[in-house]
Amino acid sequence: MTKNGQFITFEGIDGAGKSTHIRFVQQLIEDHGIKVVSTREPGGTELGETLRSILLNQKMHLETEAMLMFASRREHLAQVIEPALASGKWVISDRFTDASFAYQGGGRHLSIEKLNALERWVHPHLQPDLTFLFDVPIDVAKARLDATRTLDKFEQENSEFFTNTRNEYLRRAREFPNRFRVIDSTRSIEEIRAEIQEIVNDLITKQRTMTHKKATR
Ligand code: ADP
Ligand code: TYD
Repeated sequence: MTKNGQFITFEGIDGAGKSTHIRFVQQLIEDHGIKVVSTREPGGTELGETLRSILLNQKMHLETEAMLMFASRREHLAQVIEPALASGKWVISDRFTDASFAYQGGGRHLSIEKLNALERWVHPHLQPDLTFLFDVPIDVAKARLDATRTLDKFEQENSEFFTNTRNEYLRRAREFPNRFRVIDSTRSIEEIRAEIQEIVNDLITKQRTMTHKKATR
């Protein structure tokens, strides 16, 4: 796959605050004249959205759940993510494969070998360029969720599940420090925005410099 745009993902346990910042990041990038595709997982395609409603509402075997997450992802990559990146658009996705490692791996204890195998199958050559991990203690996330919505299958999980999910996210952030930015999401929305803005502006500058170098080679 030819990749001309940048791929940004948003991660964190439910209620950490990631959705709050997605529109803001989209606008920030568009203000630089760059086209953006904003999408989500599970979902992002017609089939993916059907799988999403099954995944968020029905109980199923852990491995079925993991495989359906990756089935939705395969379709998403083929129909949305890869064509957009190839055409030079930037893609921002509300969750991607790190969520499978955190939820199915950390939360539900699916082995990392099986998750690695699914990842190698579905996207052997693609990783996000930048991953924001919105990190908060689980009681803060839970309080934010309780205040706002009816809880889906994952959001109804217990504290142990979310502790393990959060820890797996943090472990992956340590494993892949080049692309992860851990955002302390206990701060105010304004403070978080300022930090995110700086990180996104750096990425835009980096991409522009690389494109310029290629053009003058
Ligand atoms: P997520 O997408 O991570 O599940 P949301 O962005 O939907 O979380 O946020 C969950 C709730 O918490 C929303 O009501 C949102 O307004 C609120 N919220 C988000 N970020 C903050 C913050 N930094 N401080 C206080 N409340 C927040
Ligand atoms: P999300 O879009 O954050 O839900 P909401 O619309 O309520 O903000 O994510 C849906 C749920 O799916 C979330 O609880 C995490 C879960 N999930 C996994 O368990 N594995 C995955 O690979 C993905 C992408 C999501």
